[in-house]
Amino acid sequence: MRKFLAVTAVTVMALTACGRSTEPTGAAADASAKPADITVGVAMPTKTSERWIKDGDYIKQQLEAAGYKVNLQYANDDIPTQVTQLQDMVTKKNGVLVVASIDGTALKGALADAKADNIPVIAYDRLLRDTDAVQYYTTFDNLKVGKLQAESLLQGLEASGAPKPWNVELFAGSPDDNNATFFFNGAMEVLQPKIDDGTIKIASGETDFKTVATLRWDAAVAKKRMENVLTKAYSDKDVNGVLSPYDGLSRGIIAALKGSGYGTGGKKLPVVTGQDAELESVKSILAGEQYSSVFKDTRELAKATVTMIQQILEKKTVEVNDTTSYDNGVKKVPTQLLQPVAIDKSNVKDVLLKANYYTADQLK
Ligand code: GAL
Repeated sequence: MRKFLAVTAVTVMALTACGRSTEPTGAAADASAKPADITVGVAMPTKTSERWIKDGDYIKQQLEAAGYKVNLQYANDDIPTQVTQLQDMVTKKNGVLVVASIDGTALKGALADAKADNIPVIAYDRLLRDTDAVQYYTTFDNLKVGKLQAESLLQGLEASGAPKPWNVELFAGSPDDNNATFFFNGAMEVLQPKIDDGTIKIASGETDFKTVATLRWDAAVAKKRMENVLTKAYSDKDVNGVLSPYDGLSRGIIAALKGSGYGTGGKKLPVVTGQDAELESVKSILAGEQYSSVFKDTRELAKATVTMIQQILEKKTVEVNDTTSYDNGVKKVPTQLLQPVAIDKSNVKDVLLKANYYTADQLK
């Protein structure tokens, strides 16, 4: 169990402030400021993935319900656009910034400006790297996500009855997203021993993070790589399992597999993992195509973030439950970690309906 601990916003701001003054001068400094006087800037990476649309919606709804104004921006997965959006939030004196970055290292300049204006910055889901301008981080246990994916892959392979050694291929997420490394490392903690003892074979020979990474989490890139791997290494055998770190990629991978004859006749689709419980992938799981996903309740992440914002602005104790796992290259960022849940055909309806994440109608 991680030790529960709490730090005060004032302490952290005083410890991390540098250059100008150690006293906050922005909205965070003005204890008399009412929520209605404060605009929270929310920078989201893209609308191409269902999860980020939900994240943005939930954060906006919850902040507005708490009385704040919200400046919600999406950056189309384009780094210069996100930089401009952040600079604009600083210029407009938004009171707090919530940032889900595209590239975790690319926002240093804009974040330094926020810090100089004593605007607190929260990294949302993805860690902001190489900067001392980030105060807090809210996310899910990303290492655990990777472990759950690998455990589910092994479980699916066992259940598939495929003879050992199992032929598996590995995919990772975007190399500029800190989470991608955590997911991959978590998964490899579980898979490496099976590779070492010969239970799993990677016929492509592609096992290092850089080679298997997928820039910008782009499904088309994953589809292409799966096609290439099938051509290169599977002309005389079948692939039995694919480690995929995110539902969008899983759908691209499954499309490549179907294009090569898997899923018809006697050629079974391999066990394919995923993440985010996106509706299309949940339907694919129910249809017996994608094997599993990892459910991360984005409403809870939004809630944790809104609570953190209130604690910062009201100068209350800011609750975090992890101060060691997320070193951003400059500092260990105090983090509120939430728990991910593995889902597959056996529990997907149960978990998602119970959580009211989807309606029964949506899952028909
Ligand atoms: C990660 C996030 C995952 C997935 C992925 C692609 O940063 O933690 O849940 O959404 O991005 O969008």
